[in-house]
Amino acid sequence: MANTSIFFDAAMNDEERRQRLFQGDIFVFSPTDASLQLTVLAVEMLKKAFAPHDPRDVHRHLSPEETAAILGKLKPQFIHHPECKRIIPRIMADQGVDREKVYFDVPRMRSAYPTDFLTSGIAYAFHPHRDTWYSAPPCQLNWWTPIWPLHPDNAMGFYPRYFSEPVQNNSEIYNYYEWNAKNRASAAQHVRSDTREQPKAQEPVEPVTFRLLPQPGSIILFSGAQFHETVPNCSGVARYSIDFRTVHLEDVMARAGARNIDSRCTGTTMRDYLRASDLAHLPEEVNRLYDDGTEVQQPILNFGARLVTA
Ligand SMILES: [Fe+2]
Repeated sequence: MANTSIFFDAAMNDEERRQRLFQGDIFVFSPTDASLQLTVLAVEMLKKAFAPHDPRDVHRHLSPEETAAILGKLKPQFIHHPECKRIIPRIMADQGVDREKVYFDVPRMRSAYPTDFLTSGIAYAFHPHRDTWYSAPPCQLNWWTPIWPLHPDNAMGFYPRYFSEPVQNNSEIYNYYEWNAKNRASAAQHVRSDTREQPKAQEPVEPVTFRLLPQPGSIILFSGAQFHETVPNCSGVARYSIDFRTVHLEDVMARAGARNIDSRCTGTTMRDYLRASDLAHLPEEVNRLYDDGTEVQQPILNFGARLVTA
């Protein structure tokens, strides 16, 4: 088993950092003005959406259906908020990332409610998975930030053992374009259970995780190949977080990234990413490096403005 190192506010250039991330290391950054602006925007939107209730204890006041209906409107608003596209490039620039070479996708707002409340559909509690089981390229990096203080029982969990060890899984059922076409828009309808079939481990995994609990506005940066989960929320307090994903042009062109040890999904999220400097998509000839033939069968190749996320 390879070891995982966790760097805090490391003075390291982006090139070296990406190499370490692809080997399974994780980076934590303290809040910056830009990352705090993003969390403030999220807090304001959440408070307004759930007023007069505190967004962290809506499960005491609202039904799962009412909560899902509010999130069904709020989450797409956040995803497509023009401020987000201005702030995120600044968050990356604060960490020494070249805006001309990094591409990011729209940020998602996630919610994790106490386990007996709402854990499906629009508030899906992610079972242990790799993003690379969901058509992310091997060079994808995930940037994750908590909106309110974290608790060990409402955080994200990493399974360090499985970064380098394969997990039996059914990722072959997942095609990104098919998911966009059939399932994504219906997220808000899956309130008490989630019937959408998703890639999952097909063997018991050793339940040993570590949970990083940095302060709100901090960033946890990790490879999309990390095996991670939403920790079942037993804290009594709802958790909200923001995440977005990036790829670096040089990694994309070199087909670099974390080693693929067990993913067999099809399609690619490559057409979702926007260049930090001007929001341009990756050149189509570059996207084609990641095509596997399934792109000709489906009409929706990227995460469009009309789609809701889960
Ligand atoms: Fe994930």
